[in-house]
Amino acid sequence: MRRDEISAWLRETDRSRLEQLWRQADEVRRQNVGDEVHLRGLIEISNHCVRECHYCGLRGPNRRLPRYRMTAAEILACARQARALGCGTVVLQSGEDPGLRAEWIADLVRNICVATGLAVTLSLGERDFAELAAWREAGASRYLLKFETSNRALLNRIHPPRDPQRPDRFAILRHLRGLGYEIGSGIMVGIPGQSREDLTDDLLCIQALELDMVAVGPFIPHPQTPLGAAGSASDHPDQVPNDPVTTCKVLALARLLAPLANIPSTTALATIGGTSARELGLRCGANVLMPSLTPARYRSSYEIYPDRASFGTSGGLSRAELENRIQSLGRRPGVGRGDSPNYHRRPRGQTCHDVAAG
Ligand code: 5AD
Repeated sequence: MRRDEISAWLRETDRSRLEQLWRQADEVRRQNVGDEVHLRGLIEISNHCVRECHYCGLRGPNRRLPRYRMTAAEILACARQARALGCGTVVLQSGEDPGLRAEWIADLVRNICVATGLAVTLSLGERDFAELAAWREAGASRYLLKFETSNRALLNRIHPPRDPQRPDRFAILRHLRGLGYEIGSGIMVGIPGQSREDLTDDLLCIQALELDMVAVGPFIPHPQTPLGAAGSASDHPDQVPNDPVTTCKVLALARLLAPLANIPSTTALATIGGTSARELGLRCGANVLMPSLTPARYRSSYEIYPDRASFGTSGGLSRAELENRIQSLGRRPGVGRGDSPNYHRRPRGQTCHDVAAG
């Protein structure tokens, strides 16, 4: 798709034209990744964070947030629950937390692989190459690291680098690919100061990275962050709105530009648009849902942004209810790990299965 076509879609407001975009993305989704909706069980293992991102409630300077780290036993119990719920994958997510020691994570990954046979996805921020390698060796098969925006000036403003000498997220993604991980990345839609031209660049970047997983969510202001504080609204003349329709446009375009990728209908989308937005996500390109398995007592403290939609066991959903919802959309629950078809076209490294078998 040409740049001007992407840009035109981002400006489109006509409802029936947008229906066409949803249909086109839905068809490309069906042809490339089929009707299965894969479930990824999300476990938010720590909300400690050393970074100071201007959008995120987990940022280190937010002293009002009670901090927690789950124990290995608690995490393993959640992983077993994920399997019982029909998930093919568990996603271990956290703030950027050096308190999660590399060896401890490696042991955890090994234990989850052996105990459940599920694919393990990590989403633990910008970590050292040696740590990423050790976790891959331990059996992790995928890594999520969003680049958030391709506008460097905007990114540096809202995501201050910890140390400018360290590799940026694009360099880390390249490295992860070299280690044999499936790689996932993505953006936020409607960051104050983000223009439609920026968003067009973001989408072209998503295409160029040949991602295995793409995540797109709306920016949601958090009052205890610089970008969520009163008076931080953008006066950019071409400001991107952070609404459900704009998010779905980006989701649909991401599907057209990365046809083989696994793409979730995100919690952030459901947070601003409710259940209907989560379902619209699945009808305009998405093929993945990520129910949260984080125990309720921790989940309220994993406050990236306020009032996160609950979905999954922390939202009281059973396996039968999850399957019913998927079937009511004319789709079927995914079977197996739900690896990226993209990934299987590349040389394969060690996977969770090899570890469990060995
Ligand atoms: N609104 C939406 N998404 C957010 N994230 C962090 N803060 C916000 C917010 N205020 C997302 C970012 C980040 C992940 C940890 O959560 O995309 O990568």
